[in-house]
Amino acid sequence: MKHLLSIADLTREEIVSILDTAVSMHEVQDRDVKKLPTLRGRTIINFFFEDSTRTRASFEIAGKWMSADTINLTGKGTSISKGESLRDTVLTIDAMGVDMMIVRHPASGAPAQIADWVDCSIVNAGDGTHEHPSQALLDAYTLRRALGDLDGRHVAIVGDLTHSRVLRSNLLSLRALGAAVTLVAPPTLMPAGVASWAGVDGFETSYDLDEVLPRVDAVMMLRVQRERMSGGYFPTAREYAVTYGLTPRRLALLPDHAVITHPGPMNRGLEISAEAADAARSLVLDQVSAGVAVRMSILYHLLAGEGSTQ
Ligand code: NCD
Repeated sequence: MKHLLSIADLTREEIVSILDTAVSMHEVQDRDVKKLPTLRGRTIINFFFEDSTRTRASFEIAGKWMSADTINLTGKGTSISKGESLRDTVLTIDAMGVDMMIVRHPASGAPAQIADWVDCSIVNAGDGTHEHPSQALLDAYTLRRALGDLDGRHVAIVGDLTHSRVLRSNLLSLRALGAAVTLVAPPTLMPAGVASWAGVDGFETSYDLDEVLPRVDAVMMLRVQRERMSGGYFPTAREYAVTYGLTPRRLALLPDHAVITHPGPMNRGLEISAEAADAARSLVLDQVSAGVAVRMSILYHLLAGEGSTQ
């Protein structure tokens, strides 16, 4: 495995291997000295052309805890703002001899394009509305910790599905792990042609959140991505919250054992109420904690090579 561009490139065995290795990586978080020698002498560039809190910080922490040298670059403050092309910029960085670029970009497909141009490993840290594979892997890790084996479990993915790269990656990984998936969104935010998405089958769609909630083991709430919306996808924020938000009334519809996830950043009061975000069954901060461990495991799988020790 050289790059991580899409969950579609991973076999079920590779997904499980990344999740299993993350379990031992997670123990590092509880140590006083958070340092493994695994990636000593390796150089990783975090190249973020779009805003990020969790993904960027956790990839950087993951690299540092594994002793790699990590550097952060953004679109602003680099020669991109002087008009340098993306190709020239990434070839410049690659020529310095880096081992990996972790790329977030507003254009779907940008990390795959960069992987064609450069020699180093590329990790897709979110490209447009396409994929966010490390998020799906940390979501699967968090759900496995809470629910056990995901085979036969039922997960509802709810919200602004049209604009969500988290949706596409999660749909692929959850189906690969054997979970049943129901996508819930208003008709305006259900991706066109979703039923025939290549490479995924065996999932349902619904416009009725109240009907779906009593049947789930987990509900994954996704953010309303106002920065990607050009028109009116719903009449008012209030109406969206009432019809598709995880309100206190809807919390009571969930089975007792069911858990709640959200990749963050949350719009409290819109797709998720404060009561749901802060509920005992909310795994939002567990997801953040798992994010570091899963990203350590991703770096290990891509950079550590055969025969390395953890
Ligand atoms: C997501 C993203 O940026 O794709 N957030 C994240 O990485 N944790 C989802 C979002 O922005 O809603």
